Amino acid sequence: MIISVSNLKGGVGKSTISRNIAVYFAAKGEKVCIVDTDITQRTTCEWKQRREDAEHRVDVFPMSTMTALPKDIKTHRDNGYSVIIIDGVPQLEEVTTKTILISDFVLIPITPSVDDLKSFEKFILRYQDARAILAGTREIYGFVVMNKYSGRNNEDLEMKEALGLFSAQGIIPLNASIADRVAHRRSSKYGLTVLEWDDLKAAEEVKVLCEEIETTLIELIEQ
Ligand SMILES: Nc1ncnc2c1ncn2[C@@H]1O[C@H](COP(=O)(O)OP(=O)(O)OP(=O)(O)O)[C@@H](O)[C@H]1O
Ligand SMILES: [Mg+2]
Repeated sequence: MIISVSNLKGGVGKSTISRNIAVYFAAKGEKVCIVDTDITQRTTCEWKQRREDAEHRVDVFPMSTMTALPKDIKTHRDNGYSVIIIDGVPQLEEVTTKTILISDFVLIPITPSVDDLKSFEKFILRYQDARAILAGTREIYGFVVMNKYSGRNNEDLEMKEALGLFSAQGIIPLNASIADRVAHRRSSKYGLTVLEWDDLKAAEEVKVLCEEIETTLIELIEQ
């Protein structure tokens, strides 16, 4: 399974969510790797370096070039990785289309702000391009998840409602959401995730997210 965690916007939680999903599947016994496409910052490669003693193994590979990415992904597959997560960067729009094309599904984290909603609208155009290219060959699924979401103010609730409207474009808004919790930043300092930390609420949110992804995917594939 190739999961691309993508958004044209920076700082929405792509790397945080990529790492959490990776650890979730690794804890379930899957052979998991993350491809860090951030060729300038390499933040997830650095996270991996801080992760030496962690219980669950997650390998991290830096992307060399965008052109080589499909070949690299195939190599990871051939090497037995059952879950391959592409940790995206706020990329040029064409590059986003290319990343979507090599994925089984795309997870789009978004934080509750009008700016995010605007860039999400642009992202959807890229997603539709990719679906049009793949039409008749294979299906691709898109999920959007709210990050740094409390659901306790009008802005959050309005955002949730707005995202619901995009299901007509083939992007499914997940019920699960991730709250703004310091445990995400603290655990990352040690190359860990909230699944390996002491904030049970934060861990539970990630588990609920991953379970929802799993069940929704199964339902979609069976349709
Ligand atoms: N739910 C959360 N609660 C608290 N902090 C968070 C949460 N999600 C992400 N963060 C923090 O917000 C910052 C940005 O998150 P992250 O690096 O995952 O975003 P990104 O989309 O990968 O950014 P970039 O576009 O730069 O790659 C990081 O410091 C991260 O620890
Ligand atoms: Mg990142």
